[in-house]
Amino acid sequence: MAERDYVLGTHDAELERLGLQHRLWRSRVLDAWRRARLGPGQTVLDVGAGPGYAALDLAEIVGRSGRVVALERSRRFLDALEARARARGLAQLEARELDVVSGDFGVLAADAAWCRWVLCFVSDPRAVLQRIGAALKPGGVAVFHEYLDYRAWALSPPCAPHQRFVDQVIASWRAEGGEPDIGRWLCRDLIAAGFRIESTRLHVEFVEPADPFWTWPIAYVEVGSARFVELGLMTAREAVELVAAVRAAEARPETRMLTPPVLEVIARRG
Ligand SMILES: C[S@@+](CC[C@H](N)C(=O)[O-])C[C@H]1O[C@@H](n2cnc3c(N)ncnc32)[C@H](O)[C@@H]1O
Repeated sequence: MAERDYVLGTHDAELERLGLQHRLWRSRVLDAWRRARLGPGQTVLDVGAGPGYAALDLAEIVGRSGRVVALERSRRFLDALEARARARGLAQLEARELDVVSGDFGVLAADAAWCRWVLCFVSDPRAVLQRIGAALKPGGVAVFHEYLDYRAWALSPPCAPHQRFVDQVIASWRAEGGEPDIGRWLCRDLIAAGFRIESTRLHVEFVEPADPFWTWPIAYVEVGSARFVELGLMTAREAVELVAAVRAAEARPETRMLTPPVLEVIARRG
């Protein structure tokens, strides 16, 4: 079957970027899972798992008596996930090639679901929430991390090429049927899908270039602008100028960055 690509791509540089991103977010994610009471023996879904960096952590948490089902559309990402699971002997991690908008999850009475940076890319996020609800047992928990206000991502003092890039990112995701600020609708859509909101939390930082978290959004400037050149959405010269402008800002002692605000929602199926 042909690779099922999407706006960010499923190439090696993106696969690596997702790994870096997961490492930088890992402590926040583990904390969210702890508050949602994920634990040994549970069945957990990773909805839109990508190359499975989070799914591997989930497999360690549920242990051999549990089960993690990673649902993902990209065969390339699933191949990477399966290779890592084999290398680490995580037989409790199962990968399923599936479109989470239209495919049957094939799981009933799961204890928990994890879904990060997926609803912002799909044309029908409410259909995904319905499917998650149908796969969970009553009282099962779902944990989400999604963007809330993508345009808030900014360098300080402002950097015009970066701000143009942010606008291009928003436009490109919307052109593919996604909604970067899907977090704004998430509580409403979860309640409509039969969930009760247990907690919400906003993750946003104001960081200096030396902060390790700085590299999370900046890695996307580099990988994302190269992808835009490939898609014909940006010229190679614009991409070079963008990266140079960001690097120049990074070298100035006054520069800070407001990171893209990410909304965490923990919700339970009624
Ligand atoms: C930004 S990545 C996030 C991956 C992973 N959740 C993580 O946090 O690292 C978005 C993922 O959603 C997947 N995706 C997008 N639309 C999808 C769909 N309709 N069905 C299944 N997966 C989808 C992409 O292939 C990609 O792996």
